Amino acid sequence: MSLSSNAFEDNQVQRAWWKEASVYQIYPSSFKDSNGDGFGDLGGVIEKLDYIKTLGVDIIWLCPIYQSPQVDMGYDISNYKEIDARYGTMDDVDDLIAGLHARGLKFLMDLVVNHTSDQHEWFQQSRSSKDNTYRDWYIWRDPKYDSQGNRQPPNNWSSYFGGSAWEYDSASNQYYLHLFDKTQPDLNWECEEMRSAVYETVRWWLNKGVDGFRLDVINLISKDQSFPDATVLDANQLYHHGCEHYANGPRIHEYLQELGGILDSYNAFSVGEMPWVSDPEEILKVVGYDRKELNMIFNFDIVDMDHGASGKFSPKDWQMSDLKSIVSKWQTFMYGNGGWNALYLENHDQPRTVSRWASDSAEHRTLAAKMFATFLGLQSGTVFLYQGQELGMSNIPEHWEMSEFRDLETLNHWDELCEIRPDDKDLQVITKQQYHIKSRDNARTPMQWNSDNHAGFTTGDPWFRVNDTYDICNAASQVGVPGSPFEYWRAILALRKQMLDIFVYGDFNIIDAEHEDIFAYTRTFKGHTVLVACNFRQHDVDWKLPTDMKLDELLISNYAGAEIDEGIVRMRAFEAFAYIQKDHASLSRL
Ligand code: NOJ
Repeated sequence: MSLSSNAFEDNQVQRAWWKEASVYQIYPSSFKDSNGDGFGDLGGVIEKLDYIKTLGVDIIWLCPIYQSPQVDMGYDISNYKEIDARYGTMDDVDDLIAGLHARGLKFLMDLVVNHTSDQHEWFQQSRSSKDNTYRDWYIWRDPKYDSQGNRQPPNNWSSYFGGSAWEYDSASNQYYLHLFDKTQPDLNWECEEMRSAVYETVRWWLNKGVDGFRLDVINLISKDQSFPDATVLDANQLYHHGCEHYANGPRIHEYLQELGGILDSYNAFSVGEMPWVSDPEEILKVVGYDRKELNMIFNFDIVDMDHGASGKFSPKDWQMSDLKSIVSKWQTFMYGNGGWNALYLENHDQPRTVSRWASDSAEHRTLAAKMFATFLGLQSGTVFLYQGQELGMSNIPEHWEMSEFRDLETLNHWDELCEIRPDDKDLQVITKQQYHIKSRDNARTPMQWNSDNHAGFTTGDPWFRVNDTYDICNAASQVGVPGSPFEYWRAILALRKQMLDIFVYGDFNIIDAEHEDIFAYTRTFKGHTVLVACNFRQHDVDWKLPTDMKLDELLISNYAGAEIDEGIVRMRAFEAFAYIQKDHASLSRL
């Protein structure tokens, strides 16, 4: 597929409401507790709707609130049509939808249909006997036997939360597949009745007033039915990453077209989570405007950039050149070919950006938060902002012990490491440092509302320790305060709306692609250009302004505007700005 140099003129960049929207993600357990039990809840979200509206987003995405044993914080659903008591009731959901719609905001539910909880009635039935009508709703396979006659799982796939991806069921002498925890059995999408039940659930929520879905690991639903062994990349491991056999598997587009047809008939918003697929041609089959599958997807290229050779919790220094080629690849490919990007740096699975890729020191944290807002918020795509990102919240402090961590991914990883390498203290120290950089727990500490007890998150005992930084980083000290990360994000989101043609629909080009410190790009619409530049370093960098660029009219900056002398811009620590080129400032639609 070739890139078009003038996609807008060729009418390949169609306008759509969901392209112009920005999304705010809420992790309900950690957002706001309204009843003092220490867990965030729906009442808490309702209390904060005006805060969200003030920020200037258009949509909220709520992580799962369905009934769940909460082994994986709600990504293990035991009933798709009930609300977990921890969060409230179905009446609260109705109130939330009404409150959102009254403010002109839309509502996305998190749809988890690659797997359910093992407590779901469907699985209870399925595991009850081989003859049960639900048996085929999950993935059951016979054991393999090795040369000594020992029983083995059907293949060598690993689970993302440690160990084999297969769990043995002695009652039927079969294994079931679970790509995540053993309490999260994978649904069998080959089974038509199961698919119909999922589609019925989707319609049920849309009829209730939900405006769309974020679809959890949706590209894993179609597995190669011969269940081949994964390629062995590390012979020291017992189980291996089998994603080549199920990430965008054989029937993925057929299933997504079935699902997409329903979503399209409701004009619903859809964003699919799609790990382990980096081929834009393949992703375009999902998000191409005429494909009617999903509006956009989350790809993992940026957030996997610092995963080392032995996985997420092994160290790797990321390179500016990698970041530039990733961003450039997705931005230009999608623009030129009628696709669309979901823009994100943080979510409930990713740590805080300022700590991970910049600095959370007292001197630099807010500058860095605003630099990332400029970097991300002015790109082409739909912006996703995760709770606390608008405040520049940081990772959990280094002095917190292992006993403070709560997430099963980190805890399982630690247990496995201590079991397999009990005497390797050096590796244990390095791995603990990595948890402080990349554990999912970093993003899950309670939202910092003010400097009161427990950051104003709860009047009770918080389920998860509040980050020590709450007295210096909280919403009360930022809303309405010029120069705060909150107000900066608000300005960025407003700018996107004011200059829709450029920032939503404009072309994207990397500038000075070889530069190791400065990330610069332009957005252009019908010859009208904005230059965006970001210093990713915590020291000054002298940047030679490309000769065809000018710093004419300042749109936004995290300093008071650029310092330039004879064509050299002195970019200060984490400085970021956007300037419109003067010749073009009169664009009528701006
Ligand atoms: C992706 C979700 O974002 C993550 O939190 C969850 O653990 C896995 N999918 C399994 O549902």
